[in-house]
Amino acid sequence: MGRHFLAVREIGSTNTVALALAALDAPEGSVVVADYQTAGRGRQGRAWLAPPDTALLVSILLRPTGPAERIPQLSLVAGVAVREALALAGVETRLKWPNDILLHGKKVCGILLEAASGPLREPGVVVGIGLNVNQERADFAADLRQRATSLSVATGRAWERETLLMLLLSSMDRWYSTHRREGFAPVREAWLSGSGDLGRWIRVDSRGAGRMVDLGADGALIVETARGGRIEILAGEIEAHAPRR
Ligand code: BTN
Repeated sequence: MGRHFLAVREIGSTNTVALALAALDAPEGSVVVADYQTAGRGRQGRAWLAPPDTALLVSILLRPTGPAERIPQLSLVAGVAVREALALAGVETRLKWPNDILLHGKKVCGILLEAASGPLREPGVVVGIGLNVNQERADFAADLRQRATSLSVATGRAWERETLLMLLLSSMDRWYSTHRREGFAPVREAWLSGSGDLGRWIRVDSRGAGRMVDLGADGALIVETARGGRIEILAGEIEAHAPRR
């Protein structure tokens, strides 16, 4: 990962550029990083904002060749890889399904997977990672301060983004290869051991609340309702922690 590397000061979105590179037949492992994004995007149509030079904003182009059902699992592969990279940097985080990374219960990193479309020779998936590194508390919008954090807010010191990028790319390399070689099982195991919600009561979108009991063999979130039924959630977002009933 990163043998083809594009680093820019300012860009609309690193994901947009990585998708454009995918259409130009850029090789797997191509990486785009920026110091600042003017149109960074998050999941579910949200904007992803960070002041210049404070965050790690990176997109990695993958060209998965295995069975199609493995592609959505890449989102969990990326979450596990980011968590491992941060652990190697000495920061313990927890995973929130599908792929938010939480530090002291607040979001420190978000991941957005986008499929490259068009007449491509090989399929392409872009993994966009936004890691809050050196933002101060005041850099987050008031409505986000309760829910978002940065490495520097949480640890009280500044971090070097280049070092974190190197750790991140080598963790992605490792976990992507493991997934390609061995399938989802080892990723699922690592994801579950990093989960902050296993056994807790959660609310998912409008689909109700329940206890998170497992991750399916395909990466789906498995929730047990108060009545003892099980629901499998393939896409969506954990909105809140519901009180135990
Ligand atoms: C989320 O909503 O949690 C996902 C956020 C993903 C943000 C990253 S920053 C680098 C890459 N470029 C983008 O425009 N988005 C992703």
